[in-house]
Amino acid sequence: MLSVPSNCASWTCSAVMALNITATLISDSLFGSFGLNPNGNCQAIYGVAGCTADERDLLFGNLTAYGLMMQPAEPKGRIIVFGARGGDDKSPGFDHRKDTIPICNSLIELGWWAMPVFYSDSAYDLIVKYASQGVDGYISRVNPDVYDDFTISKYEKLLGTLADSYGLAAMAHPQLISKFGAKDALAKIAPLRTGLPDTFAYYDRETWRAKFPTTISQGPRVIKQNRGSQGEGIWIVKLKDPSLWRKNHSLDLGTELELTEAVDNHVEYMQLGEFLTFAERYLEGGVENGAQLIDQAFMPRISEGEVRVLFIGAKPVEILHKKPKEGGVSATLKSGATYTRYEPDDPTFARLMHSFVNRDLKNLLPLLGMHNHPLPLLWTADFILGGPRPPWVDGKDYYFIGELNCACVGITTQLHLTSLVAVEAIRISEENRRMKHACNASKI
Ligand SMILES: Nc1ncnc2c1ncn2[C@@H]1O[C@H](COP(=O)(O)OP(=O)(O)O)[C@@H](O)[C@H]1O
Ligand SMILES: [Mg+2]
Repeated sequence: MLSVPSNCASWTCSAVMALNITATLISDSLFGSFGLNPNGNCQAIYGVAGCTADERDLLFGNLTAYGLMMQPAEPKGRIIVFGARGGDDKSPGFDHRKDTIPICNSLIELGWWAMPVFYSDSAYDLIVKYASQGVDGYISRVNPDVYDDFTISKYEKLLGTLADSYGLAAMAHPQLISKFGAKDALAKIAPLRTGLPDTFAYYDRETWRAKFPTTISQGPRVIKQNRGSQGEGIWIVKLKDPSLWRKNHSLDLGTELELTEAVDNHVEYMQLGEFLTFAERYLEGGVENGAQLIDQAFMPRISEGEVRVLFIGAKPVEILHKKPKEGGVSATLKSGATYTRYEPDDPTFARLMHSFVNRDLKNLLPLLGMHNHPLPLLWTADFILGGPRPPWVDGKDYYFIGELNCACVGITTQLHLTSLVAVEAIRISEENRRMKHACNASKI
């Protein structure tokens, strides 16, 4: 059923106009028009009804081909799901990630209108116009990658504008994506029970050069660049001459180092001075562009694997144990690691889950300076076993966080989770709506 939006109350639809737009309305009802668009505006409150053919193509592509369900006639709310054309995360011939349309369809099944929208720099203004009225929230499903007509800073600006200027529920806010996913989050969350205290962040060459020659004297380190993924620019650094360990003073620049890059376990040798210079490349571009180096104690029990916990908001939904191949540290499939999936309540990980979910989670965003934000819709935390505590403490194993990620965590092989994602997205959007009403009421 088509109902007229309240701001169209004075508008009367003549029979002639009705005839003219009948064809449009049939397809619009599929894609979310819930009213006749009197102004020819390409705005979400009209579904796709007011958009020209070119605008439709730019924003939505061929919606019919993607398998999007019929939108509810009277939606309980509206969510836009952003994607970007191209990139490595799509199947050939399909413009959307494999999990985007299922997420939209799960929202639709719950009575919400959900529209997949392609971001491109050319569409920036149009998207602001389209999404700035009547939309409750956005979900970003854009993997950090290279796309045509796509500038990451512009995309982030768009997300920030929709959240900050137009009040959309941000899933997630660009600031949260950047702070949560940045490697220096590990230094900020070091006070958590599952945080690794021996973690430092360097933002400038001077501090890096001043501190690292001492930290490396105390034991093997992991030096992490902020950019890259899958172990690229993540170096496990050991001294070639183990007798120099634990000197706790600045080592000579000529000290020989053994370096293993986690991307593929390959080993290189450099002198300390050379490595200091080599790693400075990761500080290029400045802190404002995300350049930073993390210096963290090496946890030798990485050989027993890395434990990835997948979350939807505050709910853990899956545990993946990634075991590097014999003798390696890399947990990527490419490097030969083996993966085993567990339910989130599997007793094997009960203590880790208790520490992290019940004790740490409430402090996670405050430590990152993001206490006003909801936890990301979909995110992961990776844990590595630390050395067992001595018997006089409790003799037990403890896990420490090695990485957080919320930039477009994929669930393409776990599509059964899309309904939980939809429930959480609705919860976040409704909470945002309540807050907006409360703010507006307080201004009266
Ligand atoms: N503190 C550490 N101790 C031991 N191994 C580590 C440590 N930090 C990272 N690694 C190894 O390096 C890999 C890549 O590091 P990670 O921080 O996860 O970066 P990326 O973003 O590249 O995945 C991890 O999967 C793990 O095998
Ligand atoms: Mg990792």
